Amino acid sequence: MLLKSLSTLLMGAAGAFAAAGQLQQVTNFGSNPTGVQMFVYRPSQLAHPTPLIVAVHYCTGTAQAYFSGTQYANQADTHGYIVIYPDAPDPGGCWDVHTDGTLHHDSGGDSLAIASMVRYAISNYGVDPSLVFVTGTSSGAMMTNVLLGAYPDLFKAGSAFSGVPYGCFAGSSLWNSQCATGQLIKTAQQWGDQVRSGYSAFSGTRPKMQFWHGSVDTTLYPQNFFEEIKQWTNVFGVSQTPTSNQTGNPLSNYWRASFGPNVQAIFANGVGHTVPERVDDVLAWFGLTNVRPGNSPSNPPSSTTTTTAPTNPPSNPPTGGTVPHWGQCGGIGWTGATVCESPYTCTASNQYYSQCL
Ligand SMILES: *[C@@H]1O[C@H](CO)[C@@H](O)[C@H](O)[C@H]1NC(C)=O
Repeated sequence: MLLKSLSTLLMGAAGAFAAAGQLQQVTNFGSNPTGVQMFVYRPSQLAHPTPLIVAVHYCTGTAQAYFSGTQYANQADTHGYIVIYPDAPDPGGCWDVHTDGTLHHDSGGDSLAIASMVRYAISNYGVDPSLVFVTGTSSGAMMTNVLLGAYPDLFKAGSAFSGVPYGCFAGSSLWNSQCATGQLIKTAQQWGDQVRSGYSAFSGTRPKMQFWHGSVDTTLYPQNFFEEIKQWTNVFGVSQTPTSNQTGNPLSNYWRASFGPNVQAIFANGVGHTVPERVDDVLAWFGLTNVRPGNSPSNPPSSTTTTTAPTNPPSNPPTGGTVPHWGQCGGIGWTGATVCESPYTCTASNQYYSQCL
């Protein structure tokens, strides 16, 4: 009897701390015509301004599996961002990346549910609308492409691991073998037009896109990676010839090609469909590497009356020297050099990250 009430008490105590360290389901988050489920991970201490990463699972996956199988939540404790894990309604766990609804802005499908989750997080968790990012694997990488096309107003950057271009599954059923096997070939213009059709009234700054693919992927053939290069370079109006291409980066069998500051393609030689998520690399692409929990000196949360000094002001003065091309040169909490090597200019990607471009 005593033991039973003691364990009840302990369970009650554990429940009180559920917000930190656990995945929580949220219902009634807004328009959700297909019945996508929303799960959220909120670290006990948030950064201010607060970033949000939407992390989208693969086919047969779940929110819980992607939560425990990737490092995004662990890193949220270090960096103070929130993570949303959507859970696909399809019994096979694949995302709707083919219907007209999902491919178009505020028109329905699974993508609308994810957009609703982002809007909910902005309204209810104080997420900064300029710091919303999306990443995913396989079917989740396809959804990353879809979201950047249909909701360019909501996202600032995406990172897609082993996906296909926006619209590659359009008009088919849940699976499209022609696209999956890399036989759906289009011109850059056609792929770009497809993205622009996702939200034709949009005229703002588009989110930047990073995508990863393995050279021996037999689930979503690597041709899809080359079609993604065509698509996103066209969207940004840049050449398909890279502005830089580093072999052996980030691993010896990889190459990383940049097409200006907004498109980055990373190819893993000898790797199949499972290209491991490199979370540090994704966070760098999102500009979140140096973000930490606490209030930034320049942006205390507006809802708080601050009477004490803000936490963690940068203690080191900027170091001397100049920053090379692509290097970080500023942002909240940045204490390194702020002057770019000639002829590059220090350009803000977001409040946390400026880069020499
Ligand atoms: C980058 O360099 C590698 C190795 O030389 C090459 O195979 C690849 O085609 C290059 N990528 C691009 C997009 O040019």
